[in-house]
Amino acid sequence: MRVRVLRGSIVVSILLAGLLGTALTAWGQEADLDEFKNNLAPNVGSPEQAIDRMLEAAKLKPGETLYDLGCGDARILIAAAKRYKVKGVGIEISSRLAKVAAANVADEGLDKRIKIIHGDFMRVDLSPANVVTLYLATSANDTLRPNLEHYLKPNTRVVSYDYPIAGWTPIATSATEGHYGDTHTIYLYEVPNSINKK
Ligand SMILES: C[S@@+](CC[C@H](N)C(=O)[O-])C[C@H]1O[C@@H](n2cnc3c(N)ncnc32)[C@H](O)[C@@H]1O
Repeated sequence: MRVRVLRGSIVVSILLAGLLGTALTAWGQEADLDEFKNNLAPNVGSPEQAIDRMLEAAKLKPGETLYDLGCGDARILIAAAKRYKVKGVGIEISSRLAKVAAANVADEGLDKRIKIIHGDFMRVDLSPANVVTLYLATSANDTLRPNLEHYLKPNTRVVSYDYPIAGWTPIATSATEGHYGDTHTIYLYEVPNSINKK
């Protein structure tokens, strides 16, 4: 009887320690998330015509999962979910924009298909993605590249508006119009073919 009680309390202690550990990890990440220090690109939303071309380039299939890294107001995710019946995950470091994104997703009735994470995309497991969209900056793509190489599984497509990923080879490029009618490039990559071996 005493052995059974002892065993029971050991199990409860292990469970409590596990729960506390999980809570502390999450709390710790939130606590040192610096919206300014960890911000790798300014907020400029992709123009509508660029979103159309990016999503065409990605060749999304229904049921696939799209990650938009630095999702802003979630415009890419919403367009993709409506047109291509995909699921979406948006990661946004600005708490203001993450709230706007979540509200936009809810307004469209898409909250079951699109998840918005307020956080740093450098701390997120990207392995569930079939497609990743980027509209960041050259230096941000440099910082992100090791994570893309670490997490993305074969056949994942990465579509970057305006900024190439240095050291990768695109499988296609296309031109699109920017906010002011000027020409911008869309880079399409595919893992692992685009990753240049050293
Ligand atoms: C140029 S905007 C692109 C917004 C959206 N993807 C679009 O195309 O409309 C870049 C976004 O990345 C966000 N961002 C920058 N660094 C980030 C980071 N480390 N983690 C998550 N979001 C980040 C910025 O706050 C900004 O909203």
